[in-house]
Amino acid sequence: MADLIDGKKISQDIKDEVRDKVTWLKEKKNIEVSLAVILVGNDPASTVYVNNKKKACEYTGIKSVSYELPEETTEEELLSLIDKLNEDKTINGILVQLPLPKHINEDSVIKRISPDKDVDGFHPESVGRLSIGERGFVSCTPAGVIQLLKRSHVEISGAECIVVGRSNIVGKPMAMLLIRENGTVTVCHSKTKDLREVTKRADILVVAIGKPEFIDASYVKEGAVVIDVGIHRKEDKKLCGDVLFNSVSKVASQITPVPGGVGPMTIAMLMNNCYEAAEMQNG
Ligand code: GUN
Repeated sequence: MADLIDGKKISQDIKDEVRDKVTWLKEKKNIEVSLAVILVGNDPASTVYVNNKKKACEYTGIKSVSYELPEETTEEELLSLIDKLNEDKTINGILVQLPLPKHINEDSVIKRISPDKDVDGFHPESVGRLSIGERGFVSCTPAGVIQLLKRSHVEISGAECIVVGRSNIVGKPMAMLLIRENGTVTVCHSKTKDLREVTKRADILVVAIGKPEFIDASYVKEGAVVIDVGIHRKEDKKLCGDVLFNSVSKVASQITPVPGGVGPMTIAMLMNNCYEAAEMQNG
């Protein structure tokens, strides 16, 4: 049976470390770390995510400044709020919760956020910096996966790393980060011809395909480390990932559960990005 990679515990450790660093900045340099959180409309899932982000800010001592805008907000209004926050020296990070209402162009919004305050790591400049190995903000979920691996003592250097999924938020930055850690990286996606044949090679298998319980033991090499980025609610209301846990945990050496694996890491890494934003802007 595989060992569990405990994302709840590891994310708690990271939040505690961020809290210490935030306290240090405040006490030694009189700098208060702050995050502007923008939510447009009232999508229930987004509201839950935003509330969790605000709670994590409270825990770590980061000041959150919340903008809850009506569904009818125009793109121009949102862009001018971002302009104002870009200029505001008391704001270190800017987060616009996605998805946005259909009449607002997400790419234009993401590009308007100053790369210095882009704590989500979605701006093309942040993406470009990651791909050429320059310092910059990294998308929180894949950054969290790297922390899960490192803190579970998984050797990435030289490992055969297979990423299933090629999204801008997870798959692509995940591949870049694994390359940075000297992994041998392959990215698979919906057009991959023989997915099972590829995933079977993985020493480290990261699954972000958005299909509930799609990956069973037949896709996994004995002893592989399996990271499940998916989260879905089943008909019986229970949560599950992209990986069929009871099957894969019989062959993997280490595996993340859902819930309690990758999920809590995203917010912990966001908190760390906020701290780093403040440190950089004041450095
Ligand atoms: N919506 C779903 N995930 C995310 C995320 O990581 N950041 C933002 N801003 N919106 C999201």
